[in-house]
Amino acid sequence: MIPQPFIHDLLNRLDIVETIDRHVPLKKAGANYVACCPFHSEKTPSFTVSQTKQFYHCFGCGAHGNAINFLIEYSGLTFVEAVNDLASYMGMSVPEQQPEPSNLPYSSKEEYGDDSEVSSQDLFNVMKIATRFYREQLKVSKKAIDYLKKRGLTGETAARFAIGYAPANWQNLDAAFPDYKSESTQNLLINAGLIVISENGGKQYDRFRDRIMFPILNQKGMIVGFGGRVIEQEEPKYLNSPETKLFEKGRELYNFFAARRAIRDAGCVVVVEGYMDVVALSQHGVNYAVAALGTATTSFHIQKLMRQTDNIVFCFDGDQAGKKAAWRALENSLSQLVDGKYLSFLFLPEGEDPDSYVSKFGQQAFEQQLKQAMPLSEFLFKELSRDTNLQSSEGCAKLVRDVKPLLQQVKAPALVLMLIKRLSQLSGMSQEELAELLQIKRSPKPRTRGTIPRRAPVTPYRWLIQVLLYKPSYINKLDRSFLVGCREDEEVLALKLLIEMLDTYPAVTDSDATASILTYLQDSPYKALLESIESEILEWDDSIDLEAEFSGALLILKDMQRNKRIAELHSKPLNMLTEGEKQELKR
Ligand code: UTP
Ligand code: MN
Repeated sequence: MIPQPFIHDLLNRLDIVETIDRHVPLKKAGANYVACCPFHSEKTPSFTVSQTKQFYHCFGCGAHGNAINFLIEYSGLTFVEAVNDLASYMGMSVPEQQPEPSNLPYSSKEEYGDDSEVSSQDLFNVMKIATRFYREQLKVSKKAIDYLKKRGLTGETAARFAIGYAPANWQNLDAAFPDYKSESTQNLLINAGLIVISENGGKQYDRFRDRIMFPILNQKGMIVGFGGRVIEQEEPKYLNSPETKLFEKGRELYNFFAARRAIRDAGCVVVVEGYMDVVALSQHGVNYAVAALGTATTSFHIQKLMRQTDNIVFCFDGDQAGKKAAWRALENSLSQLVDGKYLSFLFLPEGEDPDSYVSKFGQQAFEQQLKQAMPLSEFLFKELSRDTNLQSSEGCAKLVRDVKPLLQQVKAPALVLMLIKRLSQLSGMSQEELAELLQIKRSPKPRTRGTIPRRAPVTPYRWLIQVLLYKPSYINKLDRSFLVGCREDEEVLALKLLIEMLDTYPAVTDSDATASILTYLQDSPYKALLESIESEILEWDDSIDLEAEFSGALLILKDMQRNKRIAELHSKPLNMLTEGEKQELKR
């Protein structure tokens, strides 16, 4: 946990142009800097960096963010790594903030360990020693070897994945660590997630006992965690390392490190559910499979994979749980989609998983299946129109309503267009009607800087958000009452959120860099909307008459409210109006 004010301070002190320029050479163009986008392939630069506003935006693929986001995206760092990186470059030291006790996954501090003095290097080392130990234990355990053989694994495959075995005793690791009893080693093992302290007696024992061990590597090839499978039928079937300093589950993918080359060669990646699926596929020649680690496929996973390949196939079990997992993956990928990327879904026959399928039918049959995977758009509409009668108006209306929040997340212009086309065929509504109904803004076309005159934004709410993002101190001029009783659409809610945020963090108000405002809103459902609005102010500079922008927006807003009130009064029969209302109407 890094305190927000520090992040804010860091972002205000560094220069995003300098940060990005260290990795991607930038050229000055008008008020901003540009380059060919590092996140998608293009020949003319649409990647734009604003020095005054300290954020980047790509008009081609929609990539957007501040200096921290850039390092995460570009260098594949975690959030904490990126902050550390930038802070050390700026000569600032990162303060630590203890997480609130209620947020801790464990109730006791002991179990969490005292991580103040453990270094990542020491933890990597511990993981390496443990892996070696578990592998040696596999060699001498008949039970474990028999199990793997029964599952069809060759010794070569087990070695390639560094698969091991944690014996059944409560304490095995003392054999692997000479000064096991010392406080510092205990502390390391706790922080590596390998030993657990019992709640009552403070007695420690191994987390993994009597399990087949699958080491998990990060994208630099360092061991960061384990998945452990029981041999007998027991619960839980798989036990995974807890989140540690090294291991963030939502970011790592099993086999990603080893598969990178194969993914590039094959031109695609297969995302499966289980460790054993990955291992079995690899043994049968499909080396380009990865798996999430007991979590849903996150949008971070998708981003990571899209950097490697244009073609992602999700291959989940044919059962209900597999369908659910696939739908989660779809939801989490929508906001990441870029034109030119191809996501599809393969559902194996009921009762099969990739492991059993490839073991029974072999590589060729599996790859044949991959070719027939269902495109994302088809899966989307198929799921949404299940149990819906598209012959009826009600059914069509329901489909449009259900698809709206999903479609609004898609930033890829061509894909949006195709989805609307498809929806138009299914619902019988015209594409124009749908675009209107779904409030899909026409995609921003790549534009040449300086040639586009500013147009007033579509709604006064959006306009106000632009002003507040450009100059947060306008919050002080804003009369909050005008938001009372207005319709609650996405922009209004985003505006309310922004106002609330600026009220809560007065420090932001005085700052000129807006890029860091959005870091306060990482988990907000309106983040994407705010980012897209922020990109609209890229061309703004000091020549802009902010006062006019601000009062222009308010004027329209007041106009809208007045019209609404007039309509309200008009809807009453004249003789029902009070004297006051009559006066008001006249005015
Ligand atoms: P599955 O139950 O589909 O297992 O879980 P599997 O991969 O087919 O395993 P085998 O073939 O029975 O050995 C899929 C994945 O979900 C996570 C693991 O990452 C597993 O590989 N999982 C499953 C857990 O984290 N915990 C569990 O208890 C079960
Ligand atoms: Mn399985």
